[in-house]
Amino acid sequence: MNKKPLKTIIVGGGHRSLTYAALSEIESNKMEIVGVADPNEVRRNSIAERFGIPKEKCFSTAEELAGVPKFADAVINGTMDHIHVETTIPLLKAGYDVLLEKPFSVNEKEARNLVDAAEKYGRKVMVCFVLRYAPFYKKIKELILSGEIGDIISIQTCEYVSYHHMSTSHVRGKWNNSDKCHSSMLLAKCCHDIDIMMWLMSETKPALVSSFGCNKQFRIENAPEKSGTKCLVDCPLVDECLYSAKRLYIDHPDRWSFYVWDRLEHLENPTIEDKVELLKTSPYGICAYKCDNNVVDHQTVSVLFENGATGTHNMVGGTSSGTRTIHITGTKGVIKGDFEKATFTLSKIDPRPGCEHEDTVFDLKIDNDTHGGGDLDLVRDFVAYARGEKPSISCTSISDSLSGHLVVFLADKSRENSGIPEKVTF
Ligand SMILES: NC(=O)c1ccc[n+]([C@@H]2O[C@H](COP(=O)([O-])OP(=O)(O)OC[C@H]3O[C@@H](n4cnc5c(N)ncnc54)[C@H](O)[C@@H]3O)[C@@H](O)[C@H]2O)c1
Repeated sequence: MNKKPLKTIIVGGGHRSLTYAALSEIESNKMEIVGVADPNEVRRNSIAERFGIPKEKCFSTAEELAGVPKFADAVINGTMDHIHVETTIPLLKAGYDVLLEKPFSVNEKEARNLVDAAEKYGRKVMVCFVLRYAPFYKKIKELILSGEIGDIISIQTCEYVSYHHMSTSHVRGKWNNSDKCHSSMLLAKCCHDIDIMMWLMSETKPALVSSFGCNKQFRIENAPEKSGTKCLVDCPLVDECLYSAKRLYIDHPDRWSFYVWDRLEHLENPTIEDKVELLKTSPYGICAYKCDNNVVDHQTVSVLFENGATGTHNMVGGTSSGTRTIHITGTKGVIKGDFEKATFTLSKIDPRPGCEHEDTVFDLKIDNDTHGGGDLDLVRDFVAYARGEKPSISCTSISDSLSGHLVVFLADKSRENSGIPEKVTF
């Protein structure tokens, strides 16, 4: 068993890759960053400096990297959704194992191609379904596996996307228009939740999927009277609108600001004036009701599993605060919890005289990591998986991540067809 640090190359040196690559700085015995591929020169140079990568190990693209002889064990692929498959297949062919961001593909055909390529080239691909690693969901999985609530009858999950997250990512930002980013809102945001549902159902496969949803709120006809087109250019409501770019990004220190200030990365310390100037021209400064968004702001998904169990997922964007909730009913008990609070209750049927149910509260708060503690544990598990060690129960191998993606693709198809159910085929 290879116990040396996993020599790893960053492909797509954006926000997510750097979160994962940080493991090499925290636990240098597990991972060593030895190369980078990114067309963005500012990012490429700053990553090279941060991790001490020599010039000859810096590349402009994944394709260029795949064209040189293999010099590491693995790759972290944190490129954007629609190029995950086209950038990963050549790297698998070149002999690398890959830690790949979710969604691992944006359509069924590419998803199956990638699963086949991993098998063909005998490489490991792990998908960044970080929530499986959050102690909250991991504990729920353990309790289900140990039979605490019996057989699952129904799983209900909800994701509430806060108004600032919604407007930054899915109204103004990178995932606001599926013609451009090639991801639906459900795929970009809730492939996590659908994956969790599939994972908790273990071997039981989904059979039928239906879905409804639309963009109800962020439409031009809902724009406040007298609103302008750009918050900091021509809008008299700049100090009162809930979605004012000034209130979200200038007055508040951190409302998903890392996305908003991407274009100022070349400046060491951008000033308020730099930020105001940027917002006058950037998509993040456009009126939230007058953007080119075409993705839904709420969607509901229903799944029928092959054993008769059912699952529902509700995504609602534009809420006062963001969280995820879960309510699982089994033949012996119920688990219900709130991910943001990191607590859930296990409520077991208790027929003893004077009792109805026996409740245990689990509090799984953790500090210093995003996604409820999932991010770095996922990378640790990837290292173990790539080294040939036994992966954890959370391990998100690509074949095990396929069913969630298929359900998302079919849910969107159903939504476009007024909720007509779609059959899942494997
Ligand atoms: N797991 C999660 O919870 C989670 C959370 C947020 C985002 N994501 C996903 O992470 C991915 C990355 O998001 P991000 O915000 O970090 O993106 P980003 O835009 O910050 O980074 C992507 C990088 O890829 C580079 N790139 C483009 N083409 C390339 C190529 N051919 N070869 C190499 N690099 C290339 C870009 O220059 C950019 O630096 C997305 O797929 C997103 O959906 C996952």
